[in-house]
Amino acid sequence: MMGRGRTGASQAALRGRNVERLLGIDIPPDESIARLHIGDPCFATPPHIVDAATAAMAEGYTHYPPSRGDPELRIAVAKHASLRAGRRIEATDVLITAGATEAIYCALTAVLDPGDEVILFDPSYSLYGAIVDQIGAVPVFVAMTPELRPDLDRLHRAVTDKTRLVVINNPVNPTGVVFTERELNAIAEIAVARDLLVLADEIYGELVFTQSFSTCLAMPELADRLLYVNGFSKTYAMTGWRLGYLIAPAELLPAAYVIHSNCASVVSWPAQRAGIAALQGRREPIDEMIAGYLARREDMLLGLAGTPGLTLTRPEGAFYLYVGFSFDTPIRSADLAKLLLAEGVAVRSGTEYGPSGEGHLRLSYSATFDDIRTGAQRLHRVFEHLSG
Ligand SMILES: Cc1ncc(COP(=O)(O)O)c(C=O)c1O
Repeated sequence: MMGRGRTGASQAALRGRNVERLLGIDIPPDESIARLHIGDPCFATPPHIVDAATAAMAEGYTHYPPSRGDPELRIAVAKHASLRAGRRIEATDVLITAGATEAIYCALTAVLDPGDEVILFDPSYSLYGAIVDQIGAVPVFVAMTPELRPDLDRLHRAVTDKTRLVVINNPVNPTGVVFTERELNAIAEIAVARDLLVLADEIYGELVFTQSFSTCLAMPELADRLLYVNGFSKTYAMTGWRLGYLIAPAELLPAAYVIHSNCASVVSWPAQRAGIAALQGRREPIDEMIAGYLARREDMLLGLAGTPGLTLTRPEGAFYLYVGFSFDTPIRSADLAKLLLAEGVAVRSGTEYGPSGEGHLRLSYSATFDDIRTGAQRLHRVFEHLSG
């Protein structure tokens, strides 16, 4: 057998490589491209949050912080989460991480072994599958209904003796669907009946345009099996700060902490001080951003209306539009995304998010109005051409 060679990657690195995900992240910074591919808030971090970080640096928060997170931030997160949960969450249940990404990584790596099965609704955010693959565990994709809602019958059938965990991302990246309380209760019922862990990623939980949002934190039946992930990137427009957190029961958090201390070790202290200001500060900047996303959603829907071969659904949360396409001469999602990029509009192939993504694209409307309008025009032109 051939060795991997001095520069060869490990099996774990090879397994964890989702080519479409990496391509999607690495779109060149070319100003002529309408950038509808990335999940980065199109707003600046609110000034009171920036000021808190500047003050923290001047005050000497420039050393190693406590490894589980700044104690005041852990308290602030616990308080914020308790309010949403309607039950008491302790600061000791909170681990501060380098973005929700690291929280997801620590949580999954802490509880999964090779061969364990993990239920991922299909489509779902591509990071989960990449980490599950890297661990050597097995992603089991459970297709959503044609309306992009969780398919509970399929979920029932997908659980086996090897299933260890189900991921609930609500609101959903890439579709913008918001799960109802009834859907969440039904998933929770299966998780309890089959003794599964639940990883709930609610990073878009405040970017919701429907009347209500049900958090998994408020479901008492999940409390002892819930790995709860959230962060500051989306709500507070803080993607570059790398700040997130994991809330987990006392039996699970120590294992996640081991992974955290072995990879990130600590999280930037000024960023954590800024996180306290974000949680305790004014609500208005967030409401203004939500209004801004709503306006952009409408602009994108308007710009794409009437595009031949395109199916649109109005998203209820996050800042993505998940569109279906169909032409007489079939084209693969990944090839269509490449073609669109060549025509000056960057989008993501639906297949990055699971097998059901064939025939779909994800567009982000967290973009400038200019990019949204130009992007919609360019996409319209390409679709018109493909429709003959
Ligand atoms: C569903 C979901 N979870 C987690 C993340 C990662 O967020 P963070 O910037 O906090 O690492 C993203 C980023 O796009 C996301 O869409």
